[in-house]
Amino acid sequence: MSEAPESPAPSRRTLLCGAAAVLAAGGTVAVTGCSSTSAGSDSAAKTPVDLGPASGVPVGGGTVFREKKIVVTQPAEGQYKAFSAKCTHAGCVVDQVKNQKIQCPCHGSLFGITDGAVLDGPAPTPLPAYDVVVEGGNLKVTPR
Ligand code: FES
Repeated sequence: MSEAPESPAPSRRTLLCGAAAVLAAGGTVAVTGCSSTSAGSDSAAKTPVDLGPASGVPVGGGTVFREKKIVVTQPAEGQYKAFSAKCTHAGCVVDQVKNQKIQCPCHGSLFGITDGAVLDGPAPTPLPAYDVVVEGGNLKVTPR
């Protein structure tokens, strides 16, 4: 009666998400549609996350890695910044970076791409900053 087809297969999902990130590097700003493991950020708080090619993040803009709840920006060429993509107002995931602002779709909060500071909206505090490095052309982000 119970076939238990529940196999998490995280490596397959990781590959699919990676493929999406590679496709995104071809010119699309946002990466969406990946569902990652349901492990909360609490348990893996200090583990570096590989987000794929840094070339996918536009200069003067950014890329939202929705499935990872991370947004990476590049305010100036070669200068990468990473933040939690979880809005500090009510917890929505920011959905895009436009006009050098990180935008939350829920109630309109705007955050700066350089420091995650609140530029507008009901969000009470900046987006938490994460550590980001580029290794072998790939972004590695570590939540603080
Ligand atoms: S949850 Fe982002 S503005 Fe309300």
